[in-house]
Formats: sequence, structure tokens, C-alpha cells
Amino acid sequence: METLRDLVVLIHITGFAITFGAWFTALATRRKRVTRIMDVGLWVSLASGLILAAPWPEGIELDYLKLGLKFVILAALGGTLGVGMHKQDKTGVRAPAGIFWAVGGLCFTNAAIAVLW
Ligand code: HEM
Repeated sequence: METLRDLVVLIHITGFAITFGAWFTALATRRKRVTRIMDVGLWVSLASGLILAAPWPEGIELDYLKLGLKFVILAALGGTLGVGMHKQDKTGVRAPAGIFWAVGGLCFTNAAIAVLW
């Protein structure tokens, strides 16, 4: 059961890697836009995060204040990505700067909360 949980954590951090990796690639290639891949990573993080939020295996202690905060930040990230998709120019080359930086910041903040809290 513990190995199974570890596997779900692995999938969960892969979701983070997909979203943050897509964002960092956009930053590094100076195409500061939001992409569907960032969305995909978010859904992977959400699905695996909700599975991890269930108290299993028996006896595990979870901090629901921390998890609730991560959920709120994930929802804000999803909203920001949605607005960015609509607001970026039709060529999809550039999203509004505030939206682009918010996506990276919210994603990184959630990882920081997960690791440092
Ligand atoms: C963009 C969104 C998210 C990111 C970047 C993220 C990132 C991470 C990372 C890096 C870890 C590994 C930390 C460690 O094991 O030391 C982790 C663990 C975990 N995450 Fe997330 N997460 C996100 C969203 C969520 C959501 C929405 C939930 C559930 C509501 C959630 C629940 C958990 C749980 C239960 C763990 C296992 C370790 C723990 O209890 O802290 N995560 N997350």
C-alpha cells in the first residue's frame, strides 16, 4: 500500500514537472505564453493530489489546512491559465505579462508549500 502511495506521489510530482517545465520552456525560449501542456500538468496534479488527500494507508496523518491551501492555489492557477488562453494574442506567442508570471509563480508556490510546510 505504501509503494502504491509512493507511485501516486511520483505521478503527482510529474504533474508539477509538466506544468512548471512547460512554463520554464516558454520563459527560456522567450515565447511567454500559456499552453495546453500546462493545463495537462494541472489536471495530473489535481487528480493525483485528490487521491493523495484521502487518508490511506491507515494511520497516515494529513494536514488539511495545507492541502486546502494547495487546492485553492491550484484553482487560481487553473483560472489564470484559462484567462491566459483567451487573452493571449491569436498567434499565441505572448500572454499578458502578469498572467504569464502568475502561472509560474502559483505553480512554484504550490511546490514550495508541499515541500517546505
Ligand atoms: C499545482 C499544483 C500542485 C503542485 C505543484 C504540488 C506539488 C507537490 C509536490 C512537489 C509534492 C511532494 C512533496 C513531498 O512529498 O515532500 C506534493 C505532495 C502532495 N500533494 Fe501536491 N501539489 C499540487 C496540488 C495538490 C493538490 C490540489 C492536492 C490535494 C488537494 C495535493 C496533495 C498532495 C499530497 C497529499 C501530497 C503528499 C505529501 C504531503 O502530504 O504533503 N497537491 N505536492
